[in-house]
Amino acid sequence: MNDERIIFRDRKNTDSCKWDDMTPNFGEEGLHAMWVADMDFQVPSCVQKALKDYIDHGVFGYYKVPESYFNAFINWQKKYHSFEVKKEWIRFSPGVVPAINWWIQILTEPGDSVAVLTPVYYPFLNAVKANGRRLAPCDLINSGGLYSIDFDGFEKMIAETKAKLLIFSSPHNPVGRVWSLEELRRLMDICRKHGVYVLSDEIHQDITFGGAKQIPTALAGDYDSFLVTLTAATKTFNLASCQNSFVIIPDGTLRKKFDEFTEAIQISDGNSFGYIAVRAAYEEGRPWFEKAKEIIADNEACVRKAFSEALPLVEISPLEGTYLLWMNFSAYLKPEEMKDFMQKTCGLAFDYGHWFGGDRFASFVRMNLAASPGSVKKAVDAITSNLPTR
Ligand SMILES: Cc1ncc(COP(=O)(O)O)c(C=O)c1O
Repeated sequence: MNDERIIFRDRKNTDSCKWDDMTPNFGEEGLHAMWVADMDFQVPSCVQKALKDYIDHGVFGYYKVPESYFNAFINWQKKYHSFEVKKEWIRFSPGVVPAINWWIQILTEPGDSVAVLTPVYYPFLNAVKANGRRLAPCDLINSGGLYSIDFDGFEKMIAETKAKLLIFSSPHNPVGRVWSLEELRRLMDICRKHGVYVLSDEIHQDITFGGAKQIPTALAGDYDSFLVTLTAATKTFNLASCQNSFVIIPDGTLRKKFDEFTEAIQISDGNSFGYIAVRAAYEEGRPWFEKAKEIIADNEACVRKAFSEALPLVEISPLEGTYLLWMNFSAYLKPEEMKDFMQKTCGLAFDYGHWFGGDRFASFVRMNLAASPGSVKKAVDAITSNLPTR
């Protein structure tokens, strides 16, 4: 029996990015926070206990990463993703985003093109620009909120730009797609044909709904020579600030490149707190995670019901994966009205669509559903009670 409970926490005044650091992105504080991908849920009790035991011991000297950490990850991948990860393939990074930036430096030269499928998680875009590479975006095809890959457009774009690398989100943030085997294969086969390396960011790999089956890109075919998989326990278990993530590199040549790079920057391990939290989560946290998913699914249902009754033309993409709902308000608001309406009228902080790749996404917002039902209802009520139906 699963008697884990999800405990909702008021995170205001706890130095949380989501609740206490809105000014850089929104120009003001005090909005009702439905943005940034972390959870307003207290972590599983097994994680709290493991960290408390360590703190009670009270010695924080140099740390040797235990076998149990690797085993917990390997067992999780095997059990829930049928992915048989060998220990020698695993490397550390203090976050998936740092690893993306590192791989851009390892696999490409300044001025090279790096492909992305837009709209996409905006740190991908920032990473390409910050490293002096050129962004080669290919828009996903949007058919009434259902997204798919424009394979012909993608192939044409990478041929034209001579892209060296694709940064791929699977499941896809923000549109919530869990890619099918056929889609993964078509995409990877195009990349192989054109000599494009692929970074498959699978940080949301566990968070799937309604029977959607997440397939690790590495299992879609024989792609090891040009594929690196990035993942973490941090989305699944709300551990983002522990800064602990996994880089999976089955190919020896790519591993050597990565090891030379991390040797030169002297970052090959993280802090003990991250390892302890992640090990405990993977070992014992599954019942908590199942409960967390139920809350997220109920929250999604609440949003859909409220909008279908009051604002039926809000286009909400199916949530196959992630806990981030992608919504199009173009039937009710002009792109230039979005910020004023969401912030000034409703007092809400969402990730704005244009952050994910440009103004053509400006009538969208991304809503974080990993919150208490009351918090989600508050956001939905603010919109339904203030939005004039046209
Ligand atoms: C697709 C994707 N990759 C990476 C991250 C962040 O990774 P990290 O915190 O490990 O850098 C997020 C967080 O929202 C994400 O959605």
